[in-house]
Amino acid sequence: MGAAARADRKILIIRRILVLGAGGRLGKALLREYSGEFEVHGITHAELDLAKVDEIERVISAAEFDLLINCAALTAVDYCESHRDEAFAVNARAPGMLAELCQSRRAKLIHLSTDYVFDGAGELPYSEDDPARPVSVYGESKLAGENAVLSVSPDFIVMRVSWVFGPDRPSFVDQLINRARETAHVSAVADKVSTPTYTVDTASWLKLAWENGATGVLHLANTGQCSWQEYGQYAIDCCQRAGMELRARKVEPLKLAQMSNFIARRPVYTVLSTEKFTQLTGVTPRSWREAVAEYIGEHVAKR
Ligand SMILES: NC(=O)c1ccc[n+]([C@@H]2O[C@H](COP(=O)([O-])OP(=O)(O)OC[C@H]3O[C@@H](n4cnc5c(N)ncnc54)[C@H](OP(=O)(O)O)[C@@H]3O)[C@@H](O)[C@H]2O)c1
Repeated sequence: MGAAARADRKILIIRRILVLGAGGRLGKALLREYSGEFEVHGITHAELDLAKVDEIERVISAAEFDLLINCAALTAVDYCESHRDEAFAVNARAPGMLAELCQSRRAKLIHLSTDYVFDGAGELPYSEDDPARPVSVYGESKLAGENAVLSVSPDFIVMRVSWVFGPDRPSFVDQLINRARETAHVSAVADKVSTPTYTVDTASWLKLAWENGATGVLHLANTGQCSWQEYGQYAIDCCQRAGMELRARKVEPLKLAQMSNFIARRPVYTVLSTEKFTQLTGVTPRSWREAVAEYIGEHVAKR
């Protein structure tokens, strides 16, 4: 791409946004958060199966958009481990095709990716430049998707997030709270560390990223770090403060090695550094504790 075209892409005005994965946790949140300000349209799994090559071309070619945000993915980590071809079709081949289709109509693409591209052997927050070495088929397929997107255009954005939670689809934190309502003993893994990412916050960060001309890989998460056990304990504490009735008040620690039901390997430490985002936008994401407290106050305690 020449310099003129590159400059042209940077000042692209976003008016119409197409969200894929519109029935998912993040996609649904983006649809809601952007609907007042943009012409936003969502496509669900039922409307487009990204494993089907001819469907992708047909559905995307018929849509009108300046920015495509791809939140659709095969996210079930253990399922991916035993369905490698399907994982690569949805998480790698499809994003590459979406990138080609965006490129040919001069639209911007933001593709969502994951902290699971890292092996988790680090002890400091991962930057975008750290080598990605996935330890699962899910992670491998998502990394292949990142590469497929950025090989079409380095001006597209690959947004890696970790431990996504929000009101549109239950995640770890909701499952843990439900268990604490039903039983007196709950436990969670205490030796796996990352950072929760609130979908509502992600909507505003994404907008800031494209408005500030972000390109390439970008890490986004709330700040701080915790284990699943600390995350769960904090959520339980918030529920108690909100006056919710719980049978369990303490989250007992488990070791990752005790999770005999896990098929795929999980990376142990995947805290994402959001320094690049802060340098670009001047904004530091709020802490995961603040985001979880708000989520519980506004969405869980009122249920
Ligand atoms: N959830 C996390 O903790 C987490 C962590 C790191 C990164 N991410 C990334 O963040 C993005 C959004 O994830 P999320 O949390 O919103 O996950 P999610 O709730 O599982 O949403 C994924 C969406 O993709 C759809 N989908 C699955 N297979 C599809 C296919 N073959 N064709 C079309 N759509 C398909 C799903 O539809 P159905 O449910 O109807 O199948 C679902 O609506 C993904 O790229 C994910 O890899 C998520």
